[in-house]
Amino acid sequence: MALTTKGKAGLAVVALAVLGLALPVSNLVTPREKLEVKSADPRYREVSLLLQGSCADCHTPNLTRYPIYFELPIARDIIGKDIKEARQELIVTRQQLTGEEPLDAVQLGRLKEVIEDGTMPPLRYKLMHWNAGFSQKDRQTLLSWIASQSTTYGIKPVPETNPFSPDKRKVALGKSLFNDKRLSADDTVSCASCHALDKGGTDQAPVSTGIHGQKGPINAPTVLNAAFNFCQFWDGRAANLQEQANGPVNNPKEMGSSWPQVVAKLEKDQAFKKAFSESYAGGLTAASITDAIAAYEKTLITPDSRFDRYLAGDRSALTADEEKGYKLFLQNNCVSCHTGVNFGGLSFEKMGRRKDYFAWRGHPTEADNGRFNVTHAGSDMHKFKVPTLRNVELTFPYFHDGSVSELPEAVKIMGEFQLGKKLSDQDAGLIARFLRSLTGRLPD
Ligand code: HEC
Ligand code: HEC
Ligand code: HEC
Repeated sequence: MALTTKGKAGLAVVALAVLGLALPVSNLVTPREKLEVKSADPRYREVSLLLQGSCADCHTPNLTRYPIYFELPIARDIIGKDIKEARQELIVTRQQLTGEEPLDAVQLGRLKEVIEDGTMPPLRYKLMHWNAGFSQKDRQTLLSWIASQSTTYGIKPVPETNPFSPDKRKVALGKSLFNDKRLSADDTVSCASCHALDKGGTDQAPVSTGIHGQKGPINAPTVLNAAFNFCQFWDGRAANLQEQANGPVNNPKEMGSSWPQVVAKLEKDQAFKKAFSESYAGGLTAASITDAIAAYEKTLITPDSRFDRYLAGDRSALTADEEKGYKLFLQNNCVSCHTGVNFGGLSFEKMGRRKDYFAWRGHPTEADNGRFNVTHAGSDMHKFKVPTLRNVELTFPYFHDGSVSELPEAVKIMGEFQLGKKLSDQDAGLIARFLRSLTGRLPD
């Protein structure tokens, strides 16, 4: 379409507006008082001031009074989009900047990664804000502070004793229910059919098989240490273990049953009914059955892995190669997503953050949408709850699509698609060796 004179004039205004954006005059228009830092850690003051100077405009809500040029249509679109996307990736709250609340493990790992890679703040922001961005010295300050917070970047051992302390009698009932095929329509499938403890809490199959031999759409994650996850299912659609346990019973492709049907069957079992009503005044109901199952699942933790012994100070618990693999895991920033007690389970992350995994793999499925299927927000497309890496040598095949059976290959895919790095066979092999040291004492 040919441009009218009016259109050209409009374009000129736009061009001026864009130029105006790049003008550092805006530095003068947007002086902002720095928040007072109240942290007990004297080094945090400097860290916070650096973050406030270069990062907070985009990553901290309710802080910045946006400059006048923000009101120009194009500027508002560009900056608004930046801020929206920035906050989908990382939020650092005001209370964290002042030091009243600590930064968590995922945040620390993320900061380490972008500071090392030098990817933040975005270039166009640096054009506008001369003082933003870090000198070599600033980077050192930040990185050494992050390392001083936790040399393991938030990785923690599985506690020796169950931190959730569920009621022992409920645990016993839950264990029996977990292994009870009467929870399925035709008495052929129990929870344990797809989550066998001797298979690392999975079925070691790409996708699960439910009643009548039906195949499901997604790989079964482990129930081991699931209690440490911030929510349940790949897409996080259940808030906790009790809510999760509602799913499979009613799922036509898994157990194909319903609570009235299950309750009716269990009611006929007088011994079980009696034992059950000793723990639950209301007797057998969907709520009490799922509560008992969740109580049992909370005990399915795997302490005492060789890696945890190493963390506790026994340097001989890992071989030299496994130790190298651990260092590579930290250096390559795998830890920015796989951290905490579970080496994961703390956040949703996009599969294919650095490169399109789904275009590479082909054959898209609905399950590939991940978190999007729950929220229908475009930004949640292809996001999954980061899976735990505990006992990962037993939980093959890997990924939500169960597409990879060898651990070193899964590690290389992570390097390429999550970190934008081609890991050598040797490094991927060393990392895989380290990951095999995460197998803990399996519950019986
Ligand atoms: C102009 C706004 C802006 C500023 C200032 C800014 N960021 Fe970002 N940040 C973004 C946007 C947009 C994204 C998401 C898109 C991307 O990753 O480029 C993002 C993503 C991130 C991520 C996720 C990383 C990733 O690659 O997935 C981290 C971590 C981050 N920023 C940290 C920082 C830190 C630390 C600073 C200060 C040095 C900073 N940001 C300054 C806009 C900003
Ligand atoms: C037919 C196989 C099958 C059966 C039977 C089954 N599950 Fe699952 N389970 C799966 C699959 C597949 C998923 C992943 C589904 C998803 O994320 O969309 C899953 C997910 C889970 C999760 C979430 C773990 C995580 O990290 O997100 C838990 C916990 C779990 N199941 C427990 C149970 C319990 C308890 C039962 C019995 C009431 C049960 N499962 C029955 C296949 C099964
Ligand atoms: C940006 C976050 C992120 C980073 C960085 C990351 N991962 Fe992952 N990891 C994920 C997500 C999300 C999945 C699940 C992807 C899927 O199933 O489609 C995953 C899955 C895995 C799995 C498969 C686990 C299973 O049971 O299916 C392994 C193994 C793994 N990652 C190891 C690593 C290693 C090693 C690194 C570093 C080289 C790494 N990850 C870096 C987010 C990340």
